[in-house]
Amino acid sequence: MSRQILVTSALPYANGKIHLGHLVEYIQTDIWVRFQKMRDHQCFYVCADDTHGTPIMLKAQNENITPEELIAKVHQEHSRDFADFYIGFDNFYITHSPETEQIVNEIYQKLVAENYIETRQIEQFYDPQHQMFLPDRFIKGECPRCGAADQYGDNCEKCGAAYTPTELKNPYSAISGVKPELKTSEHYFFKLSDKRCESFLRKYISAENGVLQTEAAHKMQEWLNSLSDWDITRDAPYFGFQIPNSKDKFFYVWLDAPIGYFGSFKNFCDKNKNKIPNLNFDDWIKADSTTEMYHFIGKDILYFHALFWTAELNAVNLRTPTKIFAHGFLTVDGKKMSKSRGTFITAESYIQTGLNPEWLRYYFASKLNSTFEDIDLNLNDFIFKVNADLIGKYINIASRCAGFIHKKFDGKLAKINQNLPAIKTLQNAADNIAALYELREFSKAVREIMALADVANQYVDSVKPWELAKNSEQNQINSDLHVVCSNALELFKILTIYLKPILPKVAENTAEFLNISEIFGDFSWKNVADILPEQHKINAYKHLMQRIDEKLVSKLIDANKATIAKENKTENKTENKTENKTEKIESNFCDINDFQKIDIRIAKIVNAEIVKESNKLLKLTLDLGEKNLRTVFSGIKSAYPEPEKLVGKLTPMISNLKPRKMKFGISEGMVLAASSENDNEGIFLLSPDSGAKIGMKVS
Ligand code: MSP
Ligand code: ZN
Repeated sequence: MSRQILVTSALPYANGKIHLGHLVEYIQTDIWVRFQKMRDHQCFYVCADDTHGTPIMLKAQNENITPEELIAKVHQEHSRDFADFYIGFDNFYITHSPETEQIVNEIYQKLVAENYIETRQIEQFYDPQHQMFLPDRFIKGECPRCGAADQYGDNCEKCGAAYTPTELKNPYSAISGVKPELKTSEHYFFKLSDKRCESFLRKYISAENGVLQTEAAHKMQEWLNSLSDWDITRDAPYFGFQIPNSKDKFFYVWLDAPIGYFGSFKNFCDKNKNKIPNLNFDDWIKADSTTEMYHFIGKDILYFHALFWTAELNAVNLRTPTKIFAHGFLTVDGKKMSKSRGTFITAESYIQTGLNPEWLRYYFASKLNSTFEDIDLNLNDFIFKVNADLIGKYINIASRCAGFIHKKFDGKLAKINQNLPAIKTLQNAADNIAALYELREFSKAVREIMALADVANQYVDSVKPWELAKNSEQNQINSDLHVVCSNALELFKILTIYLKPILPKVAENTAEFLNISEIFGDFSWKNVADILPEQHKINAYKHLMQRIDEKLVSKLIDANKATIAKENKTENKTENKTENKTEKIESNFCDINDFQKIDIRIAKIVNAEIVKESNKLLKLTLDLGEKNLRTVFSGIKSAYPEPEKLVGKLTPMISNLKPRKMKFGISEGMVLAASSENDNEGIFLLSPDSGAKIGMKVS
């Protein structure tokens, strides 16, 4: 049965260039979408530029243009880059749009009506010269822990400490350099800690429910234990949507960004109402919609999608995602992309250097799977794989056989032998390969397809068309050569269908060369089984793909070293990512409710012994009073080689820690000890001041 599927990729920020890291995601999504379309499902792929937030506002200021002008310019660049890599969006829009604003307002009003919004006074740093509140990453100062100068307001790059901006010593505004003032402001919070959100999320994002990948579900369950309300407000000046019935308050960019998925789709529906029958936006987003919706995202933004976005949709009774697919991060030659090494490669430079976008699509496909492991672009492997697989195994089949058909047989095919074992083998793989695409196991699909290319090559090598050609007299019809080459082209056709989601341009050119428009229209998955007809006339073969020349890759790296160096001078160090980061760190705070969940009691150590099989653990027996004895395994052996000396001491313990099964028994709590980060200065068990008694609560 034909499915109705809405697919999104994360919305790229409108203040940066598209680079190869981004392309991991857009290529992954595009392959999946093209596959769904080939299966004759109704599938729409939408995206947009993410256009709001402080960094975009400041960047426009720096360039002396309006944010709208900046967005228009970047939108055009991004559209070009995506088109260059054959990312086939059905709609690529912007979030700063009337559609998105309208849906944002509707959702917000519903949240208010359903009592999901709360107002609170918050204290925030304010830049008196620039007259704006400062996001954490726009405040700098000395690290409160190690004293390093010029550290950001959320964490120290020297020692790794995380803190709030108010803890910085000698803070200054990163924009104007002046000393910031603390000012209060009224903010709106989405009550994520509301029981209704929590109980929804517990079920919805559980591993069993399958919306998230298993690992992602586990990660999110951890976050669930410390849900805090989400500040969705930013104070003016800000570039975003104004909060209704408020003065100088704007929605935080992460509130409207995911709604931008809907904004883009609404825009698409409105534009195509007359072209696509029964395309009704509301049917796709209502709570009981029978359509499917998938978000492809990077693992860094799982939190926003799995928690905030889905809780919000549920709260206003709209449909929630069918699945959220997170992928890992791109490294180049095993290291993080780096501007100084020239491995922070922009999409634009890749194309301008003359590299073929389908090489990258193929390479990424050969690495991608359904997990969010990071994926590495190894430049030597890239050259090797493309040349060995794509050219050596796949393209070569056509280039070795097509010429004969054209030269010797007037471009017409012989009757293809449909019982040829190689043809059967290739046809029979269709379901398996489809299943791998569906599951996003692209690397396995590629391996499978290349194994089939080997089968095809073995056939060609065994029948040796070039020798058959030598034997034939001029002008004499050589029927063996004719059949053999036609069979080979049938094999090539099947491989092309399997590779089409990855290599759309090669597939398009192959469709033209095999002249299939009248017989199939376009290659769809089911055409695997449709043998090319006898006497079918094909067009002259033009080369479908070149080999990679190593020199091009070196040129690409050099090009990125050069342009980035230029850019660094003119660009303020403002990245939108920094705002995400701020949000994540805010969520690392524990509020008093979190703390109160922990029941810390004074306990007496009544027994302490070494666990022989372990080089770290002591087994403690702790008395909490009223016959409440607990066994606790504690990693303090190195500090207490004579554990019997601990017996009789009082110590605070977490008494309501979930019992944990360990190799040597069940641990029923935890004692508290002080140590340096790497334990190299010893471990010291805490003890209460004299007077404390067994069972007393620590608060
Ligand atoms: N604007 C937000 C997303 C809002 S979605 C409602 C954002 N933008 S981004 O431009 O920083 O990133 C866009 C996507 O590209 C994200 O899914 C991100 O994970 C992905 N990637 C950005 N750099 C990447 C790598 N180096 N490697 C792989 N994916 C990366 O986040
Ligand atoms: Zn520090």
